[in-house]
Amino acid sequence: MKLSLQERLKLPFFPVIQAPMAGGFTPPSFIAAVCEEGGLGSIGAGYLSPESLREQIREVKKLTSKAFAVNLFIPTPVTLDQTKIEESKKILLKYHQELGISAEPKLFWDEQLFEKQFQVVLEEKVPVFSFAFGFLSAEKMQALKSQGIFIIGTATSLEEGLFLEQQGCDAIAAQGSEAGGHRGSFLDGKFPLVRVWDLVDELVDHVHIPVLAAGGIINAEGVHKARQLGASGVQVGTAFLVCKESSASPEFKKKLLTSPEGSTVLTKSFSGRWARGVENRFMKELEPLQEHLPDYPLQNSLTQVLRKHALEKGQTDFLSLWAGEGVGHLQELSIHELMQELTK
Ligand SMILES: Cc1cc2nc3c(=O)[nH]c(=O)nc-3n(C[C@H](O)[C@H](O)[C@H](O)COP(=O)(O)O)c2cc1C
Repeated sequence: MKLSLQERLKLPFFPVIQAPMAGGFTPPSFIAAVCEEGGLGSIGAGYLSPESLREQIREVKKLTSKAFAVNLFIPTPVTLDQTKIEESKKILLKYHQELGISAEPKLFWDEQLFEKQFQVVLEEKVPVFSFAFGFLSAEKMQALKSQGIFIIGTATSLEEGLFLEQQGCDAIAAQGSEAGGHRGSFLDGKFPLVRVWDLVDELVDHVHIPVLAAGGIINAEGVHKARQLGASGVQVGTAFLVCKESSASPEFKKKLLTSPEGSTVLTKSFSGRWARGVENRFMKELEPLQEHLPDYPLQNSLTQVLRKHALEKGQTDFLSLWAGEGVGHLQELSIHELMQELTK
């Protein structure tokens, strides 16, 4: 008999997945607490060094015996467009000068990072592996499967979902256009913007593996709707980001909790890849220049000095305030309270 997603992940309720959120917002204690509350916590490990990733996995394992996930970004080919790089540096330098930052924008990326992170995932035999921005080679899929690791891919369209099913994924995170953070899109250079309920509806009709609804879900109403449409679970990011236990900076949290509905937009300004966040001065001013900026991960590296400075000084105008369309309806709950809400 085929097991449901809930049974496969040994969860006590309809699956609530705490969305992976790279950027250091959810320490191991946070992830373990979600698992202990009956959800599936995820380590958003996209930017972690292999050493930190291993440490975090071991820490989560120490704190909970329940299943948890590790999420990585699939590397995208890097095009070194010198004109765009120079243009972006010029734009950024003006902000550096205004804010009194002496360091210059720095271009860097590690082509081997993903391979090293992936190796840690295999060695540590994590229970669940999820990924965004692409797909895995047949060899990597096989390596995960031979360790019994449950695999979740991210799709933003029906085509991507069908593709991931064919690749052998065990479940699909259906990322609607409402979702906070980077778009997980990967097929044909397109960035489809399908609303979450339409995407879930289409995917449930056409794929035979579990579908997780992601984007704008912040309460029981959203979970019930996902369930009604035939989703096998939900993946919730922004509502967890504002939890009392999250490590998001107080300024970031305040912005998420006090911004009105409709204040998030899609931007490429911070990273060179489409992502949704609360609109701020940097996003507004760079909006007309989007096509002059280098692609991810180059722009992401160039804005790092500025973002780090902004974080230290609490300047939300220069922080990537990734968040979904739930902004305007968020509450600062504890993980326990949020899990109670999402599972009632
Ligand atoms: C701050 C932030 C960081 C994110 N980082 C990742 C990530 O590292 N990997 C990933 O697959 N998705 C990431 N996402 C997207 C989530 O997986 C998910 O699609 C999204 O949070 C769902 O929408 P919601 O935020 O409205 O709940 C991130 C989202 C946010 C808000």
